[in-house]
Amino acid sequence: MDALTLLHERSSMGKLTEPAPSDEQLSAIYQAALRAPDHKELRPWRFIEFSGEGRERLGELFAEAEFQEDPHADDATLESARKKPLRAPMVIAVIAKVTPDIAKVPKMEQVISAGCAAHGILLATHALGLGAMWRSGKYAFDPVVRKGLSLDEDDEVVAFIYLGTLGGRHKPLPQHDAADFVERWG
Ligand SMILES: Cc1cc2nc3c(=O)[nH]c(=O)nc-3n(C[C@H](O)[C@H](O)[C@H](O)COP(=O)(O)O)c2cc1C
Repeated sequence: MDALTLLHERSSMGKLTEPAPSDEQLSAIYQAALRAPDHKELRPWRFIEFSGEGRERLGELFAEAEFQEDPHADDATLESARKKPLRAPMVIAVIAKVTPDIAKVPKMEQVISAGCAAHGILLATHALGLGAMWRSGKYAFDPVVRKGLSLDEDDEVVAFIYLGTLGGRHKPLPQHDAADFVERWG
């Protein structure tokens, strides 16, 4: 697949099955993430990989977040939170590791850089013929989850990326006309 085709045709896959990416594939995926644009080479990112029982630990954090938000939450709600990370054989949390108060690189730039790293993960996964889906949801912003993942005060959870083997067909690509979004000066 040539680079432009990849950029034009990357698509999310919500249905993901075993196996998770191999170590070799993960190495290629992380290398792609590390090519994200990065002002002042701060490397403002941290990746936490959850597979096997690690996904259950993440699910426990989600359930705890749900419980702290609503101590009267019913069992079905807690169980649903607990099971979320089991929707794929692997989840990678992409965290913006933000250096506060650094000249010329405000927090937003560092968070964007981490977002680009997340996109790199999606692109590389697609190029390898595997599936991925960027899901954040409310847990990305939850204080219990932030604490459980050892985020510092200025850090942000940018993505929970679910990865695995394609479990279905990609949906048809939407057709957009770039002219609808582009203004030209000059
Ligand atoms: C920051 C961010 C957070 C997202 N969070 C979710 C989410 O929690 N749940 C979800 O279904 N899709 C979420 N999405 C959207 C999907 O990842 C995906 O981009 C969307 O379904 C469109 O599919 P496509 O990537 O194939 O165009 C998120 C996307 C971004 C950029």
